[in-house]
Amino acid sequence: MIQSDNLHLWPIERQDLNNNYVWANDMELTRLAGATPLPRSSQDVEQWYRNLSVNPEQHIFAIKTKNGEYLGNIEFRGLDLRCGCAEIGIIIGERKAWGQGLGAEAIRSMCNFGFGELRLHRIYATTLSNNPRAIRLFEKCGFKLEGIKRQAYYQDGQYLDILMWGLLENEFWANNPPEHSDKSMEHSDKSMEHSDKSMEQAQGMIAQGKDLLSNPYTAAAGAAMVEAGEAQLARAHSDSAK
Ligand SMILES: CC(C)(COP(=O)(O)OP(=O)(O)OC[C@H]1O[C@@H](n2cnc3c(N)ncnc32)[C@H](O)[C@@H]1OP(=O)(O)O)[C@@H](O)C(=O)NCCC(=O)NCCS
Repeated sequence: MIQSDNLHLWPIERQDLNNNYVWANDMELTRLAGATPLPRSSQDVEQWYRNLSVNPEQHIFAIKTKNGEYLGNIEFRGLDLRCGCAEIGIIIGERKAWGQGLGAEAIRSMCNFGFGELRLHRIYATTLSNNPRAIRLFEKCGFKLEGIKRQAYYQDGQYLDILMWGLLENEFWANNPPEHSDKSMEHSDKSMEHSDKSMEQAQGMIAQGKDLLSNPYTAAAGAAMVEAGEAQLARAHSDSAK
C-alpha cells in the first residue's frame, strides 16, 4: 500500500468491482477520461479485473481515503523499465471528492512511488482539450506540456486535441523534496512560496495557451489552457489576499 497525507493507494480487490462497474457506465467519466463511451457489463468488468494481474506493463491502484472510502483508480500503463518510462492515468469516480486536491495528492504519491521505487525517469500523461480540470491537475503537479496531437480524438460530433504532458524525475524531486529535507521551513514561508509558485505557473500556462491560440490547429488547446490558467490565477490571488 502506498500512503500519503489523506490517501492510501491499494491494489484493486474483487470487492472493489461494484464501484468500477458504476464508474465504467458513467458516460461523463468515460468521456472525460477519453475512453470509448460504451456500456460495460459486469462480465466486462470481471474480465478487466482478471487481466490486471497478467499485464506486467500495468500497475493499477484503488485510491481510498484513510477511512477506506473508495474514490477512484490511478495507474501506470505502458510501463517500460528499460527506458524508465510509464504513462499515468487517473479517474476519481466519486464526484463529491473532486476539487479538494485529492487528485493531485494521488498523482504526486504515484509519481513518488514511480520515481522513487520503480526508478522511473519519465512519467507522461494525456488529457483531452475539453477537460480543463485534468489540464490543471497535471500542470499543477509539475507536468510540462510537450505537444499537441491536433484533432486526434472524436467525441460528440467534434474532433478534440490531445494534450501530451511529461514529467522528468529531476523536475519532480525539485518540487517534491523528500519529507525530511524541508522540515525547517516555517508554515507561512511555505504558503507564501506556494502562492507565488501558483501565480507563476498560472502566468506560464496563460502565456503558453496564448501562443497556441494564434495557430488555428492548436487554438482549442490554447483556449483550454488560458481558461485553466486564468482560473488558477484568480485562486492564487484570492489565496494570497487571505
Ligand atoms: C481530473 C480529476 C482526476 C481531478 O481530480 P481532483 O481531485 O478534482 O483534482 P484536484 O482537486 O487536485 O485539482 C483539480 C484542479 O482543477 C481546477 N479546476 C476545476 N475545474 C476547473 C475548470 N473548469 N477550469 C480550470 N480549472 C479547474 C481545480 O480548482 C483544481 O485546481 P486548484 O488546486 O488550483 O484549485 C477528476 O476530476 C476526475 O477523475 N475527473 C474525471 C476523469 C478525468 O477527467 N480523468 C483524467 C483523464 S486525463
